[in-house]
Amino acid sequence: MEKKVLFTIFGGTGDLAQRKLYPSLFRLYKKGDLKEDFAVIGTARRPWSDEHYREVVMGTIEDLIESKEQAETFASHFYYQSHDVTDTTHYDSLKELADSLDQKYQLEGNQLFYLAMSPNFFGTIVSHLKSQGMLETEGYHRVVIEKPFGSDYASAKQLNEEINQVFSEQEIYRIDHYLGKEMIQNISAIRFANNIFESQWNNRYIDNVQINIAEDLGVEERGGYYDKSGALKDMVQNHILQILSLLAMEPPVAFSEKELRTEKIKALNAIRIYSEEEVKTNFVRGQYAHGQLEDQQFAGYREEMNVAEDSATETFVAGKFLIDNFRWSGVPFYVRTGKRLTEKGTRINIVFKQVPVNVFKKDVTDCESKKKLAPNVLTIYIQPTEGFSLSLNGKEIGQGFDTLPVKLDYRNSTEIVENTPEAYEKLLLDALNGDGTNFTHWDEVAQSWRIVDVIRHAWDKETPDFPNYSAGTMGPKAAYDLLAADGFEWIWKPDEWYRERNLLNNQ
Ligand code: BG6
Repeated sequence: MEKKVLFTIFGGTGDLAQRKLYPSLFRLYKKGDLKEDFAVIGTARRPWSDEHYREVVMGTIEDLIESKEQAETFASHFYYQSHDVTDTTHYDSLKELADSLDQKYQLEGNQLFYLAMSPNFFGTIVSHLKSQGMLETEGYHRVVIEKPFGSDYASAKQLNEEINQVFSEQEIYRIDHYLGKEMIQNISAIRFANNIFESQWNNRYIDNVQINIAEDLGVEERGGYYDKSGALKDMVQNHILQILSLLAMEPPVAFSEKELRTEKIKALNAIRIYSEEEVKTNFVRGQYAHGQLEDQQFAGYREEMNVAEDSATETFVAGKFLIDNFRWSGVPFYVRTGKRLTEKGTRINIVFKQVPVNVFKKDVTDCESKKKLAPNVLTIYIQPTEGFSLSLNGKEIGQGFDTLPVKLDYRNSTEIVENTPEAYEKLLLDALNGDGTNFTHWDEVAQSWRIVDVIRHAWDKETPDFPNYSAGTMGPKAAYDLLAADGFEWIWKPDEWYRERNLLNNQ
């Protein structure tokens, strides 16, 4: 159904707006969710004209348009306002523009504010929105907030209090774009629509769980931000812990925003908060050095733009989370994320326990691992391919009785993947529908910071021996040792293929 709404985007000239928001708004426009009755105000410091802004917007949707007229009509709904977020008079002009667009497009006072800029200003912006009367229109007022939501628990709490002065929890949409990804949403379908999995989804049948978010890219032009953040805050505090909570939570009573949040929060609350000593044994950090993969050469992290020459920022994290509840006690949840790894890939491996006795082992006196069966593994492929696979043991064809791992594999077709709505498109539509299911509640954010702060504090007490992995590999040796110490190994080994062919320059 067509939405009547005024978007005000703070950070309208920025990278996120151009790469994600404008194309997503255009997709919603093509599908008819946005038609005649919407307008967008882009604000930022730069002194752009409406014409220039519209040119920029059209540039971001070039690959999606059916005709030039279509692009022009869409872009005609965009207005630009040069804005200093600390200057109250600027909000007065913003309000004037907002009121006139509300009249012009018959928006019934509905407003969605999108904060896609430095988090330092989030508090200032929302307080001015209120003080300058921008929230006095008839319709709804919602605010979408990009990460990072604070830089630790204390700053997140303060920010939340500032925002709560102006918006209620129901009006706040904290974005974690992973929650808009098709296959992340599919985790719940796999778990709760398949008895063969849900009945086994606990410490009696599962040996360990592995969550990988690997990136092949380096920090690109985001060195300035990333060098202050690091992989722990950039990926673990949000995306990884959100995925973990979806995998670990109890089945919700109903698949509704309220019930889902309740269960996710319970799961996050059950994650063990480590002591500093425990952090040392359960978490590994890394930073990439120069490396070579096939014929590609990569610079080390410290040589990247806007990164300190002696930077101690981690570009890689591997760790083991433990969940202290009846369902998961004793099951390690291993996580691994990093930049400049061998391949881009987000995938989850659920590793099931072995059968109690391997009746196929040849030598009855041999109880050792050589004769172990391969574990059953359910893999959920989040990106770039989307699908599931289940590895089983079958009999090798022929005389005798050797077992052989076989894989049941399902992937969405390229066509389906291409036509799947982008995460941002889905989340924007959710926010327009007032549906907060796929956004992060304050309690989730708060608990995630508590978990991560302890790791950060422990790390900050020691200077790491960086760099410690070569670009193109899957991280430092310690990340392998972490699992080996428990008798496990990473199921996903994209580097192996390159190593076997001597295409990876190190280790
Ligand atoms: C962002 C991080 O949240 O997620 C980036 O800030 C990271 O550093 C990105 O590259 C990964 O997202 P995706 O959708 O490409 O997996």
